[in-house]
Amino acid sequence: MRFVIIGAGQAAAQAVATLASEGFSGSLTVVGEEPYPPYQRPPLSKAYMAGDFVRERLFLKPEAFYAESHCELRLGVTAAAIDRAAKTVTLSSGDTLAYDRLLFATGDRVRKLPCPGADLPGVYYLRGIDDSDALRRHLVAGKKLAVVGGGYIGLEVAAVVGKYGLHVTVVEAMDRLMVRSASPQVSEFYRKLHESHGVDIRLNQAVTAVEGKSWVEAVATGQGRIPADIVVAGIGVVPNCELALVAGLACDNGIVVDEFGATSDPDIFAAGDCTNHVSFHGKRVRLESVQNAIDQAKHAALAMLGKPTPYREVPWFWSDQYDIKLQIAGLVQPGDTAVVRGDPSTHKFSVFHLRDGIVAGVEAVNAAPDYIAGRRLIAARARVAPERIADTSVPAKQLG
Ligand code: FAD
Ligand code: NAI
Repeated sequence: MRFVIIGAGQAAAQAVATLASEGFSGSLTVVGEEPYPPYQRPPLSKAYMAGDFVRERLFLKPEAFYAESHCELRLGVTAAAIDRAAKTVTLSSGDTLAYDRLLFATGDRVRKLPCPGADLPGVYYLRGIDDSDALRRHLVAGKKLAVVGGGYIGLEVAAVVGKYGLHVTVVEAMDRLMVRSASPQVSEFYRKLHESHGVDIRLNQAVTAVEGKSWVEAVATGQGRIPADIVVAGIGVVPNCELALVAGLACDNGIVVDEFGATSDPDIFAAGDCTNHVSFHGKRVRLESVQNAIDQAKHAALAMLGKPTPYREVPWFWSDQYDIKLQIAGLVQPGDTAVVRGDPSTHKFSVFHLRDGIVAGVEAVNAAPDYIAGRRLIAARARVAPERIADTSVPAKQLG
């Protein structure tokens, strides 16, 4: 059997590991656009950007692992076309790889600012090692940094650069921070937290232009002009599914896969940020997280080996900002009932989310026991009374 994996990120590394542990002995090739073997991205906006994490630790596996797994890494090269009838992948180098089973692990790419001036020097994005390195070179005390987007990238960068002594303004188009992933209660906590560290938070302001002559000087919003020596934009990502689309695979905000990781072609699979899949709550989603990349890749690799198992894991996420750890499990939906447990002013609390009385999500702020209990309750679809959740005299592990 010849297996080809397109993309050399978090999901690809896990797929190789699962194939190796299952004893796969056919030919295995990973094609990666970046010049690096698979690495973890989370430290790029956290400890690595803070200078507290050495570069070597970013790499998910030692080089010997790939040789031992009989996996050839083709790095710095792009998969440019797929011929599903001939079962071949053509690379940007002109080479052609034949496959029996193919895995898309192409992740996503940053959404670029669509406004005038966005291509001025001094405007940065953050997705890969090179981006983090480039940005770090400009982290100099006294400089003014405008962060566009109050999502995970924007807030983690804002938290880290304070250490370097920059003046930070976060400009967010919506009326609260982390609107895609956090509840209003948690958004409000993080607004206060960042403001207490001197970050200027501007909500309800979309950046409409980047201004400057030969280097960025300011960002403009409907409400005025924010001077800036550097701009970091974290305004979301776009799934890398064009190659799949051109090959005729079903795509809809990601490559559509079934519960085993198969696409609309039974010999082609997909895992990680690039997929549109059915999550544990039975709805189609596209998730952007390490947990999803790892767990989905395990299932997809097993399916490639003819051992399909359904992907039903409860999603979880985390974010580190200052000395605060946010841990989230489950997927919250509009209409869920939020129950706050603990006092946000103590910097240790959680928000549980109930759907028809059943625990559907938890967001824990410096509250690991609540997070652990929440994950268990979500998986068990447990019914817990709101009053009991809110009662901090009940230990988390005794909830439900
Ligand atoms: P990726 O890791 O993006 O890998 C996809 C790879 O495929 C890329 O290297 C890409 O260049 C390559 N590729 C794409 N198209 C082609 C092609 N045609 N040919 C060859 N190669 C191709 N998640 C968390 O859960 N917690 C965190 O704290 C967290 N922090 C993060 C911090 C940062 C700065 C970033 C950028 C992301 C963070 N994430 C975090 C998200 C997490 O890193 C992603 O969800 C995860 O990397 C997804 O893995 P993946 O394998 O699907 O995609
Ligand atoms: P995001 O979707 O989390 O946040 C983007 C924010 O930008 C949104 O709040 C949006 O309203 C805002 N925005 C969009 N256009 C704007 C404009 N013109 N002006 C002002 N605000 C605007 O995306 P983000 O933060 O870019 O993250 C990108 C990827 O990195 C995601 O996949 C994310 O999951 C991942 N990531 C995850 C982390 C974690 O899980 N801890 C940490 C860092 C990154």
